[in-house]
Amino acid sequence: MNPLECSHKLTVKLKDNGYDIVIGNNMLDVAGDLLKPLWSGNEAVSVVTDENVWRYHGDSLSRSMDRARIDFQPIVLPEGEGNKSMRGLENLYESFARMKLTRSGLVAAFGGGVIGDLCGFTAATWMRGVRFVQIPTTLLAQVDSSVGGKTGINLPQGKNLAGAFYQPKLVVIDPSTLRTLPAREVRCGMAEVVKYGAIRSMSLFNSLSSSSEPDLSEIIHECCSIKSDIVERDELDFGERMILNFGHTLGHAIEKQTGFDAYRHGEAVAFGMALASAIGEVMGATESGVTDELQNTLAHCGLETRYPGDIFGLPPMLASDKKSLGGAVQMVLLRRIGEAFVHQTTIAEIEGLLREVKRKWRI
Ligand code: NAD
Ligand code: GLY
Repeated sequence: MNPLECSHKLTVKLKDNGYDIVIGNNMLDVAGDLLKPLWSGNEAVSVVTDENVWRYHGDSLSRSMDRARIDFQPIVLPEGEGNKSMRGLENLYESFARMKLTRSGLVAAFGGGVIGDLCGFTAATWMRGVRFVQIPTTLLAQVDSSVGGKTGINLPQGKNLAGAFYQPKLVVIDPSTLRTLPAREVRCGMAEVVKYGAIRSMSLFNSLSSSSEPDLSEIIHECCSIKSDIVERDELDFGERMILNFGHTLGHAIEKQTGFDAYRHGEAVAFGMALASAIGEVMGATESGVTDELQNTLAHCGLETRYPGDIFGLPPMLASDKKSLGGAVQMVLLRRIGEAFVHQTTIAEIEGLLREVKRKWRI
C-alpha cells in the first residue's frame, strides 16, 4: 500500500509543534514507511505497547518496520491503567536506559490511551524530550487521546496529576485494528464520539442515531478534525479546549465514587454527559429536550445513561479533581446539540442543581 493512499490526512497546525494525522484501514502495513523520515537511521527506536495489542497486531507492525528497515525494540507491558503510575514510568525509564535510547532516538506508543499517556509522558521527560509518535489502537485513543499532546500518569492523590503537554510528531490511525477491540471498549470510545457531536457537530450527532453500521473511518476523521481545530486555538487548555471535558467532571467523580472499578471511563462519561445536560436544562441554559436526545443517542450506541449510584455523593468528589483545585468547578454545559460552553460553578451550586435534576428527571 502506498502511504499516500490513506483515506484521510489532517494536519494539526500549531506554532511550533504541528504534525500530521493519517487515517486509513491497514495503515499499520505502512507504519514503518511513515515513521522512517522521523528516524535518524542509526539511533534506537522503541515501540511501547501492551500484551493485548502486541498479541493481535504486533506481527503487522513488526513486518512493516522490517520492510522499512527500522531496527526497533518492542517493550510489551501488561494491559491496564496500572501502567500509568510512578512505577510504570520508572520501568519505562529503565527500559530506555537499557536500550541506550538517546534524544535522537524515536519512541512509538502503540496501544490505547493508557500506553499513549504513559509513553508520551516518558518521552517528554526522557533526556528532556525524545521524539514520539502515536499509533492508537482503541477507539477512544483514535478519536481523542492520541491527538492534542496531553500525556501523563496517575498518582495516589488523583488521576493524571503528573503530566506534560507534549505533542507527537505523527499520529497513525488504522481503524481496522478496532476489529479485535472488545465490544465494551468500542462502546467506551463511542461515548467520546457522542461527546464530539454534542459539543460541536449536530450532523455527527444525528448520524450516530440514524445508522446501524457507522463508518468508523469517517467518524474518526470527523472527531480528529474537531479536536485538532480546538487544540490549534487552545493548545494548553486555558479556554476553548475545556469543552472537550463535557461529561467528564461528573464522569470522573463517578469513576472515583465507584473505586475506578465498576465503570470504564467512557461509561462514566456517558452518565456524566446525561447529568450535565440535565443540569443545563434545569438551569435554563440548555434547550429543553436536549437531555432526551442525548440519552437516546447514547442508548443507541449501547451506553447506559442513568447512573444507579448516589448522585448526591458526587459533588464532594469534585474537591480533589485536578480541574477544580482552588475551589471553583468548571463545568461544561450544552446550549443545544452542537454547541457547548464552560460554566464556572461551585460544589454547592452543583449540589442544589442535582436536587432539581432528581426531582424533574428519573436520572
Ligand atoms: P486502554 O489503553 O487501557 O485500552 C483498553 C483495553 O483495550 C486494554 O485492555 C488494551 O489492552 C486493549 N486494547 C487496545 N487496543 C486493542 C485492540 N486493537 N484490540 C484488542 N484489545 C485492545 O484504555 P483506553 O480506553 O484506550 O484509554 C484510557 C486512558 O486514556 C485513561 O488512562 C485516560 O485517562 C486516558 N485518556 C487520555 C486522554 C488524553 O487526551 N491524553 C483523553 C482521554 C482519555
Ligand atoms: N481529552 C481532553 C483533551 O485533550 O483536552
